[in-house]
Amino acid sequence: MSPVTSNQTAVEVTVNGTVCAFDGPPHTNALDFLRAQGLTGAKEGCAEGECGACAILVARPDEGGGARWTAVNSCLLPAAALDGGEVLTAEGLSEGESVHPVQHELAVRGGSQCGYCTPGFTISMAAEYYRPERRPCGGQDVDEGSQCGPNGFDLHSLSGNLCRCTGYRPIRDAAFALGQPADNDPLAARRSDSAPSAVATDLHRPDTADGKIGRYRRPSSLAEALTILSEEPATSVVAGSTDWGVEVNLKRARARSVLQIDRLPELRGIRRTPECIELGAAHTLSELERELAGEIPLLGKLFPQFASRLIRNAATIGGNLGTGSPIGDAPPALLALDATLVLSSVRGQRLVELSSFFTGYRETVREADELITAIRIPLPLAPLTSFQKISKRRFDDISSVAIGYAVDVADGIIAKARIGLGGVAATPLRARSTETLLEGMPWSLDTIHNAAETLAGEGTPMDDHRASAQYRTAMLRTSLERFYAEQLHCTASATSKEDL
Ligand code: FES
Ligand code: FES
Repeated sequence: MSPVTSNQTAVEVTVNGTVCAFDGPPHTNALDFLRAQGLTGAKEGCAEGECGACAILVARPDEGGGARWTAVNSCLLPAAALDGGEVLTAEGLSEGESVHPVQHELAVRGGSQCGYCTPGFTISMAAEYYRPERRPCGGQDVDEGSQCGPNGFDLHSLSGNLCRCTGYRPIRDAAFALGQPADNDPLAARRSDSAPSAVATDLHRPDTADGKIGRYRRPSSLAEALTILSEEPATSVVAGSTDWGVEVNLKRARARSVLQIDRLPELRGIRRTPECIELGAAHTLSELERELAGEIPLLGKLFPQFASRLIRNAATIGGNLGTGSPIGDAPPALLALDATLVLSSVRGQRLVELSSFFTGYRETVREADELITAIRIPLPLAPLTSFQKISKRRFDDISSVAIGYAVDVADGIIAKARIGLGGVAATPLRARSTETLLEGMPWSLDTIHNAAETLAGEGTPMDDHRASAQYRTAMLRTSLERFYAEQLHCTASATSKEDL
């Protein structure tokens, strides 16, 4: 990264191969910036990351050193966060009069009617079309979270795109009809070169509404970020912006100072020691999903149920904890895994157990000048795990109740039980009474039945538009039995596979 330029008044972004300057106020989102360039394919449907009509592709670094075309919701992303980046919109997928293979298949298979959602679907489909791991697989799902066609196209890549009029079958037909990119496909070839590295940014622009100067900074190092935070603790910290973007769009939140931390090298990557697996707080959920590849089975069960692919491509694991939401999906799983957070400030580092991190509704022990820099998951991992998410829709929804389990059984006795809960109190929490009741007891249906009522009494669930308190309690009551049945099913499946 180059050093921050002070008093910067514009950032530069390569959009569909052309360098464009952005010089608007820092709260401008990427969608508004792109549409102002005349690129009106991306649309605003919901402005909160739920419909995918605004999807664009950004070139992001790939584990192999190349670039990966990654689909994100442009309505949530600050335009300034694109500084130095490379973006493709639906207009840029093909040149001249030719249409891209994705556009062709959508057209000939009737995958578009009113067309409002179509550029967004096109972008998500293009990201999957260019996914380097996609191979013909005869329709076999490649992992627990996939739903693949014969061409290896994972339908979950479209989980963040909604269509109100066509119906999804023609869209699925188009997706499953796609072949592999041609040898001379320039977007496929682009993947071999490295993605643009993050540039340091310090943008000062007046807000058109009140004329006050807003400042947007992307520092180049953790030390620089921590200095800014120590001097200006009221700064709004933004990583994937999937939460902040909603605040800006729907609640008209405005910050005089924004600190973007998603590309800080110290907050990225996965580190392994004999004692723990350490996840960089600014790694996105998609990156963790891909790079862990089931190494932490409980997280492998969580990721496919976490929002949509478009959201997981931007949202970070640290951000999901930092917001302090009682209904975030990561906390119940990480509580069950006994995770510890690394909090950093100019004063140094401290470790905080996740079970002590949340102190009230959207309140945590994090001081204003601290950043969550990593999440440590101790080893060895418990062998019996589950993530249960109860929500109105199976995918791309917010949980009414979420429960993470990590249980160790030795010689038929429950040696250790960890249960993380979300959606049943003002904070995510551990089901400590149930854990205590289970430990030392036989791993049996009787034990599970005895503990079910205790689990139903954990937390202080409330009524809201997602679920009643009574429903939430009922979900807790049946959850342990479901967990036990899942484990029996896994054991039975493993045994029958061995028999084959
Ligand atoms: Fe709906 Fe962006 S406008 S996800
Ligand atoms: Fe009309 Fe999808 S084609 S919303």
